[in-house]
Amino acid sequence: MTQNASDTPNNKNPESQWFGEKSVSPDQKTEKVIEVFDSVADKYDIMNDVMSAGIHRLWKNHLIRKIKPRAGLHYLDVAGGTGDIAFRIREKAGRGAKITLCDLNTEMLSVGRDRAFNKGYLDDFEWVTGNAEALPLPDESVDVYTIAFGLRNVTRIDNALKDAYRVLRPGGRFFCLEFSHMEEPVMQKLYDAYSFAFIPKMGELITNDRDSYQYLVESIRKMPTQESLKQRVTEAGFSRSSYENLSFGIAAIHSGFKA
Ligand SMILES: C[S@@+](CC[C@H](N)C(=O)[O-])C[C@H]1O[C@@H](n2cnc3c(N)ncnc32)[C@H](O)[C@@H]1O
Repeated sequence: MTQNASDTPNNKNPESQWFGEKSVSPDQKTEKVIEVFDSVADKYDIMNDVMSAGIHRLWKNHLIRKIKPRAGLHYLDVAGGTGDIAFRIREKAGRGAKITLCDLNTEMLSVGRDRAFNKGYLDDFEWVTGNAEALPLPDESVDVYTIAFGLRNVTRIDNALKDAYRVLRPGGRFFCLEFSHMEEPVMQKLYDAYSFAFIPKMGELITNDRDSYQYLVESIRKMPTQESLKQRVTEAGFSRSSYENLSFGIAAIHSGFKA
């Protein structure tokens, strides 16, 4: 069964969810997402480079340029995984920034900690296991919230957006980097053909785990459209909700401001 982004349960019925192309209960979806990232954690970084031919690095660098990290602020990177965004924030802001990395999955965080150790960053971060839908952080305690390639895995996207709004201080900024939908239907078809044919196969070759990469590809198609997500960021309370397409809409950066 193939569903369009506009008719996904994430858009219409939050109590019925998709795990890739399969319909599952909300609790099952969260469990399955934990299983996927448990399974891919140790090969996650190399697979990111293989799947995107390294382009994810350019997108992440672009996100950091928009954020303009600096010392003296509290940055929260949700679904932070193995640390790609948090480390970039640390590189730009220097030691004077407070950086909290939060993820549902302890295996991903553990790979992140090893990477932080190798970079000499281990003490510069606070590592938190937690769900984007109910962050274990106080209200109005964060200046900048980031979530990169995490939102499509979250069971109830609107809960995560509302919790992002809750933890941000007035004046705080929200950024979401995520796979999205291409502006040109023909290009989208070509991209779908590439990703469905190539990515699960590479997952099988490199990690011996085709199913997890099949899920990752399918979950991309289930993301709300750019306009729909923009609207939902507004509904969560943010002002100046906007987005920028990257690589013709393969990915997009959504942002908002807490007045
Ligand atoms: C594709 S990885 C992205 C990691 C990193 N942000 C990056 O850009 O490389 C997605 C991450 O989201 C995490 N995740 C999925 N659902 C989550 C949730 N509800 N709350 C927090 N983290 C979640 C997964 O455990 C995984 O580490």
